[in-house]
Amino acid sequence: MTIAVETFAIHPLEVGRMENFVYIIQDYSTNHVAIVDPGWEVDKLLRFCENHCFEISQVLLTHSHYDHVNNLDELLSHCHAEVHLLEAEANFWGKRSEMFRLHQDNDSIFLGKTEIKIWHTPGHTPGSACFHLGDSLLTGDTLFVSGCGRCDLAGGDPKQMFYSLQRLRNNCPPETIIYPGHNYGITPFSTMEEQISHNPFLQFDTLDDFIEYRLYGHR
Ligand SMILES: [Fe+2]
Repeated sequence: MTIAVETFAIHPLEVGRMENFVYIIQDYSTNHVAIVDPGWEVDKLLRFCENHCFEISQVLLTHSHYDHVNNLDELLSHCHAEVHLLEAEANFWGKRSEMFRLHQDNDSIFLGKTEIKIWHTPGHTPGSACFHLGDSLLTGDTLFVSGCGRCDLAGGDPKQMFYSLQRLRNNCPPETIIYPGHNYGITPFSTMEEQISHNPFLQFDTLDDFIEYRLYGHR
């Protein structure tokens, strides 16, 4: 499946044994691509880029959990790419690299003519990020189709998750397409409008009720 929008296209690849999505953002003007969350099956990813004559110039990380970054070093051995992540996540992870470009909330990243905004959405991890471009939002493990990321792992915080989800709910137009970090829903992708009407984690207006449901309810 390939979704073409404006200056860019987003190519999803489902990889690994945890239903992860790796996304390839293609800028039409340059045919440069950004790889989002290079976990698992780097060969499949490289073959896809080679077949489409893509040049990998950037890597974007939504967060540092193993299933999202385990092929980062392997990928970087095949290309010369900058790695973009939030400074808060780099501090949580404890990894350093000369290829890292550390960001703050609302920074912009340019891939050719495509502007990608990085939003700080903590809750799953302290430096979890969502990437916003055009009508698309790549949500990592912050927002899933009909779910949201766990908050009971190291660095998780359900209070922060509540405010991060509120931010997404209140700032994304209804037609925004949601590209999550895992294929956990009844459909792989969705829209913000669908999520606002169906996702149980977007139905809470009070913090305490959300925390109770996130920690003791269902995914
Ligand atoms: Fe995660």
